[in-house]
Amino acid sequence: MHQSLQIIRQEHASLSAMLQSMSLMVKRGPEDNEELFFKVLRAMMFYIDEFPEKQHHPKESTLLFPFVRERSPQIKDLIDKLEIDHKYGEYKIRELEHLLIAWEMLGDKKRDEFDHFSNQYINFYMQHMQLEENLILPQALKVLSEKEWAILDEEFSLNFDLLGPDSPRKSEYDQLFTYITQITPAPIGFGNS
Ligand SMILES: [Fe+2]
Ligand SMILES: [Fe+2]
Repeated sequence: MHQSLQIIRQEHASLSAMLQSMSLMVKRGPEDNEELFFKVLRAMMFYIDEFPEKQHHPKESTLLFPFVRERSPQIKDLIDKLEIDHKYGEYKIRELEHLLIAWEMLGDKKRDEFDHFSNQYINFYMQHMQLEENLILPQALKVLSEKEWAILDEEFSLNFDLLGPDSPRKSEYDQLFTYITQITPAPIGFGNS
């Protein structure tokens, strides 16, 4: 298995887990600790905004997609759509972060709007990753050369810092992920409920 393929799937799994936790937190609501609720949601949304934007999308857009596109004219429209998702996804998550602040600052009358857009965003992003996993990655396996895989493997591995000779490879976003699971109330995370 190519290392880059493994990393792409792991990054998707981390993002899916965070999106699902976010959905569960929104359904759960603030209960009796509003301060913690908004802190956790802000952290989750920062992760969902920052991690793909800095680490994941650029490598798909500048390497994986062009390599696949060159030899797969039949899925050109799909790749165009995924590129647009990368571009507009950024605006969508910023808009959602704004709606969360509106809920926090202006109160529960803003909750429905946030609920609605967060569901929409979560579906949008899950569908984006499914299209990549079900259509782009299998196509990449069919058409990419060994040289292209070597470039992808090297570039995707740059996401990680080695914390020590025996440590698992972790990026700063893995550390942020762990922090979020620690502050998120149980049973969604491991924090105090
Ligand atoms: Fe993507
Ligand atoms: Fe992706």
